Amino acid sequence: MRAVLLSAFGEPDRLATAEWPVPEPGPDDILIRTAGAGVNPVDLQTRAGQHAAHSKVELPMVLGWDVAGTVVEVGARVRRFAPGDPVVAMSAQMATGRGTYADHVVVAADIAAPAPRSIALADAAALPLAGLTADQALDLLDTPPGGTLLVTGAAGAVGGFVVQLAVARGLRVLAVARARDEALLKELGAERVVTDETIPRGAADALVETAGLPGAIAGVRDGGTAISIVPTRPPLTERGIDVRMSFVEQDGTRLARLVGLVDEGTLTVRVAERLDFSAAAEAHRRLAAGGVRGKLVLVPAR
Ligand SMILES: NC(=O)c1ccc[n+]([C@@H]2O[C@H](COP(=O)([O-])OP(=O)(O)OC[C@H]3O[C@@H](n4cnc5c(N)ncnc54)[C@H](OP(=O)(O)O)[C@@H]3O)[C@@H](O)[C@H]2O)c1
Repeated sequence: MRAVLLSAFGEPDRLATAEWPVPEPGPDDILIRTAGAGVNPVDLQTRAGQHAAHSKVELPMVLGWDVAGTVVEVGARVRRFAPGDPVVAMSAQMATGRGTYADHVVVAADIAAPAPRSIALADAAALPLAGLTADQALDLLDTPPGGTLLVTGAAGAVGGFVVQLAVARGLRVLAVARARDEALLKELGAERVVTDETIPRGAADALVETAGLPGAIAGVRDGGTAISIVPTRPPLTERGIDVRMSFVEQDGTRLARLVGLVDEGTLTVRVAERLDFSAAAEAHRRLAAGGVRGKLVLVPAR
């Protein structure tokens, strides 16, 4: 099969398409023919070698956590899926070595979910990592419905899902985004949109921080809650605010629930562009440059 291989850590031009063996599913696994693979910041960090010290995955490696595609083979113990089923999954490449920038991907069946029926299969690759991250971060909040949530990076992949899922949970969203993203955030359900320089002090009960803006904690009331997903720039505790980190985990049941929200129209999946596997380096450069709205999705050449 064709895969995007990383043979040495470094700049985006280290990524190149090459022949690579089709992975073999174990008894609890499914083999997926890839329709789309989402590009995430963690892929850029892994490519640059930033996770080399705490990941056992060795070079050469296939990058990518997000996959949407069709099941082509199931392991002997798998009952949930059958060949032909459209599915989505988050492979957690850094831990499992199962990269999704490839024609075929193997994942454990219990971390996969049926794909949404209401959007194109390739585009569904924009959901798993960012959607699970957003939903799991929101679970750490104890803010009751009607409370105000400050969301940084609200126009980003994770932030956009945090906004929508928070609104679905009955929270009022105060979004921090670039000035040009105000209309987008209103569409996603934010009540008010501010920039990083105009965050009102103490206005929110809680914060979900996705942009690496630790100073945004100033927008949280005394004794509130702050959840960060950016471990390199955590907010420091102040004024009795409970600060916690959140790290995404594989969860097929939760992913299936998010798919349900997509199909009922509660959750919008935003895709900026589909690019061929051969343009993986360009996708990495574009994501690093900022300004991408919606996820870049890599698709195999057919
Ligand atoms: N802990 C975990 O498990 C976990 C899981 C997923 C992601 N992450 C991390 O979370 C972060 C976000 O991921 P993502 O996929 O959502 O990335 P993303 O799609 O690139 O979103 C980041 C957003 O933050 C915005 N932003 C940055 N600085 C800003 C500022 N000063 N004012 C307003 N907006 C600003 C960016 O806008 P521009 O594009 O205009 O710069 C972008 O819209 C990354 O650092 C990623 O590594 C962690």
